[in-house]
Amino acid sequence: MTIDWDPATREWHLHNGATSWVLAVLENGWLGHLHAGAPLATGRSYRHLYLGFPGYDNRVGEPVGLALPGPGVGDFRVPALVVETPDGATVLDPRYAGHRILAGKPAIGGGLPATYVEADEEADTLEIDLVDEPSGVRVTLAYTLFARWPVVARSMRVINGGTSGVTVRCAMSASLDLPDAAWTLIQLSGAWSRERDVVERPLVPGRQSIGSIRGGSGAEHNPFLGLRRVSTTESHGEAWGAALVYSGNHLCEVEVEPFGTARLRLGINPESFSWRLEPGETFRTPEAVLAWSEAGLGGVSAALHELFRTRLARGPWRDADRPVLLNNWEGTYFDFDHDRLVAMAGAAKDLGVELFVLDDGWFGARTDDTRGLGDWTVNLQKLPKGLDGLAADVHGLGLKFGLWIEPEMVNPDSDLFRAHPDWAIGVPGRKRTMWRNQLVLDLAQPAVVDHLATVIGDVLASAPIDYVKWDWNRYLTEPWTPALPADRQGELFHRYVLGLYELYARLTERFPSILFESCASGGARFDAGLLAWAPQAWTSDDTDAVERLAIQWGTSIPYPLSSMGAHVSAVPNHQTGRITPIGFRAAVAMFGAFGYELDPTALTDEERAEVRRQVAFYVERRDLFQRGRFLRLRSPFEGKRNEAAWMVADAAASRAVVGFYRVLHRPWPRRDRLVLRGLDPAASYEVTAWTSFDAPEGTFVRGGDELMRLGVRLEPPDPAPPEDLRNPDGTWIVRGDFQFRLFDLRRIGER
Ligand code: GLA
Repeated sequence: MTIDWDPATREWHLHNGATSWVLAVLENGWLGHLHAGAPLATGRSYRHLYLGFPGYDNRVGEPVGLALPGPGVGDFRVPALVVETPDGATVLDPRYAGHRILAGKPAIGGGLPATYVEADEEADTLEIDLVDEPSGVRVTLAYTLFARWPVVARSMRVINGGTSGVTVRCAMSASLDLPDAAWTLIQLSGAWSRERDVVERPLVPGRQSIGSIRGGSGAEHNPFLGLRRVSTTESHGEAWGAALVYSGNHLCEVEVEPFGTARLRLGINPESFSWRLEPGETFRTPEAVLAWSEAGLGGVSAALHELFRTRLARGPWRDADRPVLLNNWEGTYFDFDHDRLVAMAGAAKDLGVELFVLDDGWFGARTDDTRGLGDWTVNLQKLPKGLDGLAADVHGLGLKFGLWIEPEMVNPDSDLFRAHPDWAIGVPGRKRTMWRNQLVLDLAQPAVVDHLATVIGDVLASAPIDYVKWDWNRYLTEPWTPALPADRQGELFHRYVLGLYELYARLTERFPSILFESCASGGARFDAGLLAWAPQAWTSDDTDAVERLAIQWGTSIPYPLSSMGAHVSAVPNHQTGRITPIGFRAAVAMFGAFGYELDPTALTDEERAEVRRQVAFYVERRDLFQRGRFLRLRSPFEGKRNEAAWMVADAAASRAVVGFYRVLHRPWPRRDRLVLRGLDPAASYEVTAWTSFDAPEGTFVRGGDELMRLGVRLEPPDPAPPEDLRNPDGTWIVRGDFQFRLFDLRRIGER
């Protein structure tokens, strides 16, 4: 893997055998983008790929691939950089001024989270400098190509090298010109409790974009875009995946221009953004991560999963086994006291659970969601022994102890708000919009971040706390901050996110052994930015197993299983009212960071025995679920949306677990086989089928080639069910709706 520079042709070729990116200095000094995607031979020039456009004396025009397009100079597509100079103009002419090829990956700086390397051999970085002479604005574009994955991380620095202030109005993290638009766009869109539905549409002329102006990445559109060819499947064909390592307002967009080329750009949403740059100051964009694969969408996912799990997540919990947790939220809501919690923890311990998490309601006057947010002192009425007393009792049972916080928020009915009303975001003299009875604290004010680092730090130091669930339950409205003058209010949204990252940085540095899980009314801030601080995130408040098939499928396109909090909850489900068997619920939740969210003291003896078996099943295969390669097999978004299947396999293809799910039963099912992936075609596998956690239904031996070409038989079931599950005519007794089958595969030798 390396980055080649040919001074004769003025081309760079970034290549690692799995992907190539080719950039060049154009005749006018601009930076051209000649190619990105399929691996190309090195040692050749690709300048002929550059399409000039007659009619413009600066030799640019829409079909030209540009790495740093700006407005007002003949390229009428969406720009990657817009800087307003003191005369009010936004015209830039950024010309090549030099470059560096660096081993490894320099830190992004500016408090922003980013992917990283642990050794210089893991990546090479190309930094290209461009200068706009009239204004003195200098730009550095950074491209890091990883050795292990077909992935480029891209970010930009804008430096005001002039003598007067300028205003950055748009600064995209990535801008990539593709030579054709024959792609289907994949977006992950939804809402509270139905996050990250897979939505696909063919590209058409014009701009197609998703984004957020909510102050957080949002449940509505994840900061991710995929592209696939019409014929691309999960395992074959060309695909792109582009993710933004950022948790605030974002824009993910593709513009198709009249000649049929496509420009993809990702970055902070310019809609709600401006940034004043005084002479000598630097603005850093967040990082965008772009993965290309010709092994289908699954190839893109495999690269992003490994990158995010091993070189975005940080700290000791990156690699450590994630504990099976029990969260009290759906079990008690606000109605708990010390004894009830300890009873729940005791019952959880008996089930094999490893971590007990106390959710909302333990602090201040927080008896419901109308009060108390912001007052981070323990409520001694509910918890007379304090947090340390509770943690001690939970630890005494042999469990770890975890705690919920929502530091970025305040209820007007709180001591914090009464003391500091100006710490909540709002425009003086205007009504503030309430949402879940709360307001957002202004993290653009350094004093607010300092205060939160102190009070939350005090809480975390006050008791032996092993885990924190960091929630965020409303979006930003009436954006205005006293921290900035009138002409700089466009900085608030980004400064809020920088304040959030600073708070995370301070707390994760001070408490390195705490496992952080992010949350935002479920999965409204499930993004690569927060995964750098918190290696797992609460995927959705919707714990219904049927809904979770879709939510976890969509989430898994960019994000690894280790990042997806997934819990078994009580029925009727609190979000949908649906009643599903507890085995089905567990068989879905195991494909995630596994846990329970119910009152374990309310379980029957039979359910308790079942949960014990579920936890044991998961723990025995935890390594596979957490670190294995996840492969999507059958989409819950396709057909009648009645089935889904996926699997995890280890890198050596020696173990795998396959999950197949059928929502509603239909009599006389068609003959059906499920084709597996990620196995060794030359190996023999012992396959054990489970349709409940009571006991496996049976075992058979199959070749990896057969499992990956013909598949494993679902109907009639393989193996044939035991005698007591058969009808007199030999057909098998169907267990009704919400059926699952798990296939546990172990390599037992060569074929
Ligand atoms: C949000 C979270 C839930 C729970 C509640 C507590 O909705 O997503 O999991 O923590 O807040 O108020």
